[in-house]
Amino acid sequence: MEAFSFQNGEQYCEGVALSAIAKAVGTPLYVYSRAKLEQAAAAFRAGVEHTGDVHLAYAIKANPNLAVIAVLARAGYGADVVSVGEMNRALAGGVAAKDVVFSGVGKTKAEMAAALTAGVGQFNIESEIEGEELADVAAAMGRVAVAALRVNPDVDALTHAKISTGKADNKFGVPIGDAADIYDRLSHRRGLALRGIALHIGSQLLSLDPLAVAFTRAGDLLRDLRARGHAVTHVDLGGGLGVQYRADQPPPSPADYGAMVARITADWGVTLMFEPGRVIAANAGVMVSEVIRIKPGANHPFVIVDAAMNDLARPALYDAWHDITALRPDGERMTATIVGPICESSDTFATAREMDTVAVGDLLMFGATGAYGASMASTYNSRDMVPEVMVDGDQWAIVADRIPADTIMAAERVPDFLSA
Ligand code: LLP
Repeated sequence: MEAFSFQNGEQYCEGVALSAIAKAVGTPLYVYSRAKLEQAAAAFRAGVEHTGDVHLAYAIKANPNLAVIAVLARAGYGADVVSVGEMNRALAGGVAAKDVVFSGVGKTKAEMAAALTAGVGQFNIESEIEGEELADVAAAMGRVAVAALRVNPDVDALTHAKISTGKADNKFGVPIGDAADIYDRLSHRRGLALRGIALHIGSQLLSLDPLAVAFTRAGDLLRDLRARGHAVTHVDLGGGLGVQYRADQPPPSPADYGAMVARITADWGVTLMFEPGRVIAANAGVMVSEVIRIKPGANHPFVIVDAAMNDLARPALYDAWHDITALRPDGERMTATIVGPICESSDTFATAREMDTVAVGDLLMFGATGAYGASMASTYNSRDMVPEVMVDGDQWAIVADRIPADTIMAAERVPDFLSA
């Protein structure tokens, strides 16, 4: 079934009109297609599984909704997590602990202990000192932490600077030139069982070239480690594959990506691990918002919608493009700047955008917002936390409630010393 399509002149998600969901739940809200999640998960798997023994770990940060995780767990995906909060979501969503990879530069000792207790399958450690701490925590618990050493290959991922992670001056991993010595030293630590290396150079990559360079460097390191006597059995190639946000910026397909991986890793003889996030979730979700008001502007009118940068932060943070279309377009076009109600100018979703003509009360859809949409939402300006819905064929369900601003305020209090 087509995930998002036009039927009877209006926008549907699978078999349900988005306007019907918006009417029942209110706006703004996110809507996810179960079928699209499954299609994307299958397409990525098909792209890489011919490379040999693979382990797929969905990067929870892209969309940590429990229902989304549950769909992906059923599709055989493990999880890449970067906090105990994400780990607990993965487990609650049905991911087996052994299929969880714990990444991140700032794992606390408490998080390490919690992850060891849960039995996560692999820690990706990002510095020598972190490896030493993990070894100590595990040894004190009488356990062994299975780990990979994340390396920083010093490659420009050719993506937005704020989502690049593989340059030497980024905080991630250990410099690839130091990696073999660090691996040697950490391999002697009781409590730690190093089984390989990991890398992740950035997100929304539209070119495979930087990945190919990084993976080639990882292959050189793999040979060096083996020459030093290490039994390297796993290499985690991270995530990063881009998606199509704009018609003129097509991403490589999972099949192209898999062919590149196969070419470079053919003689590695390891289990390849992958941590896709965006490519799984982005196109499975949209945000729906209602036009509150249309206000004249110096050059173009401002279309003021009831979603804001707290609900969808990507345009404000990364100048990201999302297609914005009317749920019931009448065929007319206009040029407008689309903004939210928040009191800063970065609360702009699109500037001078050619778009469907809309009027007050019309509903708009923000495309490809299934990844890093609700996941990055906040309550800035004391707005409600945005709700989420999942559609499955003709049925749909609220999979995250709207959390009213008053509920959040209820967790706050004025201390006694102020009332005296
Ligand atoms: N693995 C690691 C270690 C990561 O840091 C990330 C993403 C992923 C996997 C998943 O990458 P993906 O396949 O989704 O590209 N908020 C930004 C994206 C930040 C990505 C952070 N790390 C955005 O909205 O564009």
